[in-house]
Order: sequence, then structure tokens, then C-alpha cells
Amino acid sequence: MSRPIDIRRARLADAEFIGRIYDEGIADGNATFASGSHPAEERVAWLTKRPENAPVFCAWDGDTALGWSALAPFSHRPWYAGVAEYTVYVARGARGMNIGSQLLADLVATAPAFGYWKLVGMILSDNDAGLRLAHRHGFGTVGTHQAHATLNGQWRDVTLVERHLVVDPSGHSG
Ligand SMILES: CC(C)(COP(=O)(O)OP(=O)(O)OC[C@H]1O[C@@H](n2cnc3c(N)ncnc32)[C@H](O)[C@@H]1OP(=O)(O)O)[C@@H](O)C(=O)NCCC(=O)NCCS
Repeated sequence: MSRPIDIRRARLADAEFIGRIYDEGIADGNATFASGSHPAEERVAWLTKRPENAPVFCAWDGDTALGWSALAPFSHRPWYAGVAEYTVYVARGARGMNIGSQLLADLVATAPAFGYWKLVGMILSDNDAGLRLAHRHGFGTVGTHQAHATLNGQWRDVTLVERHLVVDPSGHSG
């Protein structure tokens, strides 16, 4: 099943639902090493501080917010300026309906306009949905960071995925 959505740049007024959906991902224990809750005022500060090359997008069905996505520079080193880390979060009640897929497809399509030539994702290795989403959109697995950080007192592996947006690694320009 696929739900038609609109994907738009996030506004400050979207901070509340962005935080709420983020908190759902944190509570699930498979999405991020972040903890605690992320109320609207904190998300307003997060949105306000983001540079132009770190956009946040929201997915809407009419007035209903379904999810959000973001790009952020992978590194402060200038030679990696074209590499971004992506994030996709879908509201619990809207998962499995192709929303994450539409958000990631949009990031892949939009990222070059923000100066990026590659997207990477850092995905907890037992986050099946996150890994399947990445693989469906042409991301390859680079490898696994073993016991990369702790979450709720447990060491967790992190799988690094990547997709080049400009160059086919086989050598052909795209
Ligand atoms: C990961 C996430 C964004 C996927 O979004 P979604 O809208 O539910 O996913 P879609 O419906 O677009 O499906 C995308 C792929 O994931 C698979 N998938 C969805 N839910 C799944 C689940 N619970 N278990 C295993 N695979 C799942 C789908 O089958 C599909 O793969 P396929 O094309 O090979 O069949 C969503 O589960 C989520 O928000 N999780 C919390 C945040 C997170 O983990 N983000 C990923 C790290 S950035």
C-alpha cells in the first residue's frame, strides 16, 4: 500500500511533530543512540541553527504530518563537503505505507541541489526497516562498525550504507 504525500521544507511550526516522531523512534530503541525527549522548543532551536546545506523536510497527507527527513554534512573537512548523512523518521502509525521510501527517494533527488555527491546512512545493524529502506533505494553496505556505541547500556553495531549520486563506482559518470 502506498499513501500519496506532499513533501515540503520544514517550518518552525513543524517542530512539535518532528520532536514527537523522533521521540517515537527513540522509544523503539532501534533508530538512534539519542535518548530523552525532544520537545518543540528544542526542535525549534535545532531547526533554526541548521545551515542551508542541512535541510529538513516533512511529509504530509493533507493536514496530517506523517514523517520527516533531513540531510546533514558528513564531516567538517572541506574535501568531504559533498557527502551528507541522511535521516528518515516516519510516525509509528504511518510505517509500512511507503512513506519512508518516498522521503528517501526525495532526499536522493534533492541532495545534489544542496551540493552533495554522496549520501551515507548510519543504521543500527538490527534496524531491519532502516536497512531495507536503504537497500531498496540503491544504497550499498560499506561495512559494520562493531560495538560502535551503547544504547540503554548495550553495545550496538552500526551498519554504514552509502549511495553515490553523481558517479557510478564502476567508473561511469552519471
Ligand atoms: C525506517 C523507516 C523510516 C521506514 O519507513 P516506512 O515508511 O515504514 O518504510 P516503507 O513502507 O517505505 O518501506 C521501506 C522498506 O522497509 C521495509 N520495512 C518497513 N517496515 C519494516 C519492518 N518493520 N521490518 C522490516 N522491514 C520493514 C519495507 O518492506 C520496505 O522494504 P522492501 O521495499 O524491500 O519491501 C521507519 O520504520 C522509521 O521511521 N523507523 C524509525 C526511524 C529509523 O529507524 N530511521 C532509519 C534510520 S535514519
